[in-house]
Amino acid sequence: MDSIVVTGGNRLNGTIPISGAKNATLPLMIASLLTSESLILENVPHLADVNSLTRILGNHGVDYRVEGKRRQGNGCDGRTIHFFADEIVDTRAPYELVSTMRASFWVIGPLLARMGKACVSLPGGCAIGTRPVDLFIESLEAMGTNIKVEAGYVIADAPNGLQGCTYTFPKVSVGATHVALMAATLANGTTVLRNAAREPEVKDLADCLIGMGAKITGAGTSTITIEGVDKLHGYRHRVLPDRIETGTYAMAVAMTGGDVLLKGAQPDLLQDALDVLVDAGVTIEPTNEGIRVARNGHALKPVDVVTDPFPGFPTDLQAQFMALMTMADGVSNIKETIFENRFMHVQELARFGAKIKLDGQNAEVTGVDKLTGAQVMATDLRASVSLVIAGLVAEGKTTVNRVYHLDRGFERLEEKLSACGAQIERVSH
Ligand code: EPZ
Repeated sequence: MDSIVVTGGNRLNGTIPISGAKNATLPLMIASLLTSESLILENVPHLADVNSLTRILGNHGVDYRVEGKRRQGNGCDGRTIHFFADEIVDTRAPYELVSTMRASFWVIGPLLARMGKACVSLPGGCAIGTRPVDLFIESLEAMGTNIKVEAGYVIADAPNGLQGCTYTFPKVSVGATHVALMAATLANGTTVLRNAAREPEVKDLADCLIGMGAKITGAGTSTITIEGVDKLHGYRHRVLPDRIETGTYAMAVAMTGGDVLLKGAQPDLLQDALDVLVDAGVTIEPTNEGIRVARNGHALKPVDVVTDPFPGFPTDLQAQFMALMTMADGVSNIKETIFENRFMHVQELARFGAKIKLDGQNAEVTGVDKLTGAQVMATDLRASVSLVIAGLVAEGKTTVNRVYHLDRGFERLEEKLSACGAQIERVSH
């Protein structure tokens, strides 16, 4: 199994290209199940999760073809992939496939919409909380689906097709919004989704679905209205830039000091996190090429943060921000409100000498003068990258084990960081 080895102390200077968003790519790929024509996605990042989902979709009959060269030269553009679901050959998503990635559960929406039935294993995914599927079930039931959960599978059946409805999510869920949105595109009549997730990835999916012929208004707000159509057609769509990758590198630069252009990044996708960095004393400057992030000599100021659904501070940047605050000049408080178990990085950050006190959903971080390199390991994607960020300033050598978590969501992490002066390499055992 590979490890990442970081020797801390170098500032970051240069340019980091931002890849297409993992969390937009996955639902967009799943949307290919909705049409018998080809869905072409541009700017698809090279990630383990994308490869896994390609395999999972293959099981339902989705073929794919990568357009042009497999790896473009400038490092900025991802691949262009054509997905063809001309025939759905299987409406069952087995445990062996779905347990590797939570998002693969989302096939339930398009399968039901197009085929009137689906049998999907309960999902797996990062170990960050219980992550139930009640909201998916409730919203699909509201559309007239009969659902039972048996032997670890959600068995869904809509013999007369899905019916438009008005449904209010009792809690904001990105995944349940994606699924209800996809399902409603082919339902009979109009669906109104209230308290829907406003994440940019939901808007990106809706934009693609509209391009495929869906009638959707309000995506990106908390009320989405979908007028069902008989069928969707092929379309070519470009995946939006990854706001979590953007925020992660912004925090890495804030941590080490230096001056980096995050090329292709869009500030409006993570304004709240950028504002927090400004409060911490970091220079953030939107340019016509992306976002410039710099910190030269100033101490980091402590800032309190509460994670929230978009447009609030993203839970997917909480671990990285906590790593940053371990070196702040004072005490900061970080509250996690989205997942109940997303503090697995705390005990690993402690190995660097970080001072963090946990109390339920709250972490109190007292900044220290220096971190010291350590052997660390994380149990989820964003936690793993927070350890890399700590390693970039820690004195001496840090080894981050279980790198497969990083490969799920960060494209060529070590290449991007070493191009800006970090001492970081992948070691295969
Ligand atoms: C998406 O997960 C992202 N994953 C997560 O990113 C992200 O952390 C999360 O949204 C929140 O922004 C993808 O886009 C692939 P939710 P999702 O449904 O959709 C509860 C990463 O690192 N809930 O918005 O699974 C749930 O337990 C990943 O890239 C229910 O109670 O998250 C959580 O507390 C990790 N019942 C809250 O809602 C349900 O039926 C929000 O979860 C569904 C969710």
